[in-house]
Amino acid sequence: MPGDGIGPEVTAEAVRMLAAVGKRFGHSFEYTEALVGGAAIDATGSALPDESLNIAKQSDSILFGAVGGPKWDDPRAATRPEAGLLALRRGMGLFANLRPVKVVPELLGASPIKSTVIDGVDLIVVRELTGGLYFAEPKKRWNDSQGRKAVDTLKYTEKEIRRVLQVGFDLARGRRGRLASVDKANVLASSRLWREVAQEMAEENPDVSVSHILVDACAMMLIQRPAEFDVIVTENMFGDILTDEASVLAGSMGMLPSASLGTKKIRKRGGGLYGMYEPIHGSAPDIAGQGIANPLAAISSAAMMLRLSFGLNEEADAVEAAVDATLAAGYRTADVAGVGVADSDTQVVKTTQMADAVIERIENPERARVPRPL
Ligand code: IPM
Ligand code: MG
Repeated sequence: MPGDGIGPEVTAEAVRMLAAVGKRFGHSFEYTEALVGGAAIDATGSALPDESLNIAKQSDSILFGAVGGPKWDDPRAATRPEAGLLALRRGMGLFANLRPVKVVPELLGASPIKSTVIDGVDLIVVRELTGGLYFAEPKKRWNDSQGRKAVDTLKYTEKEIRRVLQVGFDLARGRRGRLASVDKANVLASSRLWREVAQEMAEENPDVSVSHILVDACAMMLIQRPAEFDVIVTENMFGDILTDEASVLAGSMGMLPSASLGTKKIRKRGGGLYGMYEPIHGSAPDIAGQGIANPLAAISSAAMMLRLSFGLNEEADAVEAAVDATLAAGYRTADVAGVGVADSDTQVVKTTQMADAVIERIENPERARVPRPL
């Protein structure tokens, strides 16, 4: 589902990259392209036509680009491109959104935050994705004698809280064993339930060290001492905001992948969980059509798909090594250009050239193992 803006540009590169993985490891990937977002509104009037949802249901995973753009931004419009993304998350039951943030040494200088602060950052945010303010009812707008009114509802059930926290506990166990549960328990009833459930689960999982952090304090700590975080689990809206903030640590949103998972399993060999894989960046209408978008977030998202849905760990490792080697060799798209190392050692490239450099390193694994030249 390429979507809008730079979505089609970056997903096309991820698909090219997967062909190279297929060739090297002896797999073939089958695609059905489906409309979503503004492109779908233009063609059908709906941001997620039934046909697209059916294609999603019949597939083993979704590779998603981005949705939205000024063309569909009228606040009075009947439907918005974003509605397609939300309907897909909800429709496919993808309640756990994994957003890893890893600072690559070559891009230390790409972040406005001091290198000494972000060096070694390796965290993952698990954002609840199908509940809370985004979906709970009532959610509406109306007029009465006092004027215009609108309401959104922050509601969570124990079950929704528990299942997303469980994903965080499982991840923490395979990492550094630390889980930060983020809430606003000093103000919100839903957060007090969240904290209560998180505390019960902490007692059930003594091998994971749990801290409860208020979301405003967490926003501050993410900038002050981000390297201390391992796994962060939080509700939908808090997670939306904190992950944009966390992306600044990595230098560019163009670098960061994401996976959205539920409980549906795929039937294919090695089948893991059904997932939707997408860059965390948006459709970037300001640079769309210029061929300069960073394809690495989309490529890394496809690597997450190989690992989490298809159980192809060696293949995913190969993609990640190729991405690292490409950055080490000095390739930079405009969003991360001219930083980290002397300009003469880096080369500003366009979307397809960046993907070519990655593909070359997948096809020739020895090039992905070359000691870092910089
Ligand atoms: C994200 C985006 C979406 C969200 C928008 C496009 C609806 O910001 O994936 O973080 O708010 O979830
Ligand atoms: Mg967001």
